[in-house]
Parts: sequence; structure tokens; C-alpha cells
Amino acid sequence: MKKVLVLYYSQTGQLTNVLKSFTSALDTDENIEVIYHNIEPAKEYPFPWGYLEFFDIFPESVYMDGCALKKCDNITLDDHYDLVILAYTIWFLSPSLPISGFLNSRYSKVLKDKPVITLIACRNMWIMAQEKMKDKLNNVGAKLIDNVVLIDQGGNLATFITTPRWMWTGRKNAFWGLPKAGVNPNDIKDAQRFGKVLTEALAKDEEKKNTSLLYGLKAVQVDNRLIGTEKIAHKSFKIWGGLIRKFGKTGDKARIPMLFLYFIFLLSLIVIVVPINTLIKPLLRKLNSKTVDKERAYFEEPSGSGNERMKDYSNA
Ligand SMILES: Cc1cc2nc3c(=O)[nH]c(=O)nc-3n(C[C@H](O)[C@H](O)[C@H](O)COP(=O)(O)O)c2cc1C
Repeated sequence: MKKVLVLYYSQTGQLTNVLKSFTSALDTDENIEVIYHNIEPAKEYPFPWGYLEFFDIFPESVYMDGCALKKCDNITLDDHYDLVILAYTIWFLSPSLPISGFLNSRYSKVLKDKPVITLIACRNMWIMAQEKMKDKLNNVGAKLIDNVVLIDQGGNLATFITTPRWMWTGRKNAFWGLPKAGVNPNDIKDAQRFGKVLTEALAKDEEKKNTSLLYGLKAVQVDNRLIGTEKIAHKSFKIWGGLIRKFGKTGDKARIPMLFLYFIFLLSLIVIVVPINTLIKPLLRKLNSKTVDKERAYFEEPSGSGNERMKDYSNA
């Protein structure tokens, strides 16, 4: 009997739906026991988010301070798990605060020496967060064997509007020619392919090899255009986040003027830098295509963007 531990935090339930689809084949396999643990913050985050509440968690998210969690009683540290699936969303180019809280807690020891698969559902910017996740997993002695990423439908420009609108108003509907917010339901349904492959792999003890099990299934696709944007944005997040933290903790009134200044900075960045970047970057990428391809391949590790097994496992 194989034992799989599934750790997750989802605020609106979208990631939970992705996860349910991902693990559906494992749930129905009588040779696999799946133990779900919902990582719950001690104090729930608001939804929909107020603008101030939303930006007020940005420094702590970027610095991965984490938040206090409800007890993780159903995780037994000395229990044996053959595989761990860690499903998380991205907040400000970083793992969400409850996930950081878990990684900083003593319960993260459960990941030690285990093969770990990360599963992400977010708008479209997850590269820097996954780099931070890799560091944390390394520090606790876990072995990352796969990473699967599902992103919101509609492309970079559309989701720049639809995702924040969903977060700030709770409305997900299509409007003004823009698609519904969130991940396409067909993509969620087709996440079943990963579970199917995992059941076969677990039956053959393949998780013990500590190499990718989910290759050839279009697990991740890095958008070259977003690598540079994420790097620059993350650097500026670190600087601003560090500055804002000097003025107090989340919820402290003294932070409000700094948060407002940051908001103005963000707006000017979007209005001035992003269009310039959009014009210049394609040219730089062409001149630099070998380096960009190498970088993309690195960020797509360990599962890769190959699709050679899609015909056997995907229903799409
Ligand atoms: C505070 C906050 C910050 C976010 N920052 C990002 C981000 O940097 N990159 C991204 O792709 N998505 C970002 N998102 C979207 C989330 O990753 C995720 O798609 C959304 O919160 C829905 O997830 P759920 O399953 O927890 O409801 C952010 C969401 C919130 C609430």
C-alpha cells in the first residue's frame, strides 16, 4: 500500500478543484492511501480582498514570513509517506502566506527525504515563487521531482484585469470581451492525466528513483516574455517590501503612507516601464535567444514542457 500526503491551501477553492482533478485517479486506486491536509491560517484572509488588506500583506509574502496556522494534527512527523504533493498558489511572486507558514513550521520536517511534487494554480507569474519554494525544499531535505502549473485563461493582458477584479470584487464573470477569471475548466478537468500517470508510477515503485514522473504531459510552460518581468518585479518587491516592513507589521497604520507610495510606484512602473519593456524585450530576446532558451529550460525543470505522452493520458 502506498501512502501519499497531500498538502494544500486554497482561498476561493480554485486550487482545491485543480487538486481534486489531479488526485482523482489516486483516490480510486485501492493500493494507494491519500491523506489530505488543508493548511489553514489561524485567522482567515478576507475574500474578496479590500485594496489595503491586499497590498498590506505584500512585504510579508515576499519575505516568506508566513502566518500562524491552525493545528496540523493529522500530520504525523514520523509516519512514512511514499510521496508528497504540495499544492500552492502565488501571492506577490511568492508562495502564499499559509504555505510559507507551513514551510517555516516544524511540520515541514514531514517533507524530509520525501519525493515532492509541487502543483501551482495562479494568474501566470510563478517562476520566482517556485525558485523560493525550491530553496525551502532543499533546506528541509526534500527532493523536488515534479512541478505542474496551471495558469488563468486569457493571456497576460486579459488576466492583468480579470484576476485582480476577481480578487477585489469576488466577480469571476466574463465582461467587456474578456474571458471568465481563473483557470479554464477544461484545463482543470485535464489535470486528471497527472494522477493517472502517478498511479502507474507508484505501482512500479518509480517514485523511489527521485526523477520526474510527470514528464511529457505539458506540466509547465514558461513564457519567455515573463522571465525578465518577474526578475525585475521581484527585485523591486524585495526593496519596497524591506522598506515597508521598517514601518511596522501587517495592519499597522504607520505602514499606510508607505503602501500608498508603493502603489504609485507600481502604477508608474506599469504605465512607463512595462510598455518600454514590451517594445525592447523581443529584440533583446532575439539577440540573446540561446541564453533565453537555456533559462526557460531551467525554469521548466524537473517536469518540462514536453507533450509526448499527452496522446496516451490526456482527454483534451
Ligand atoms: C494577495 C494575492 C497576490 C497574488 N499574486 C499573484 C502573483 O504574484 N502571481 C500570480 O500569478 N498570481 C497571483 N495571485 C493569484 C493567486 O495565485 C491565485 O490564482 C488566486 O488567489 C486564486 O487561488 P485560490 O485557489 O487560493 O482561490 C495573487 C492572489 C492574491 C490573493
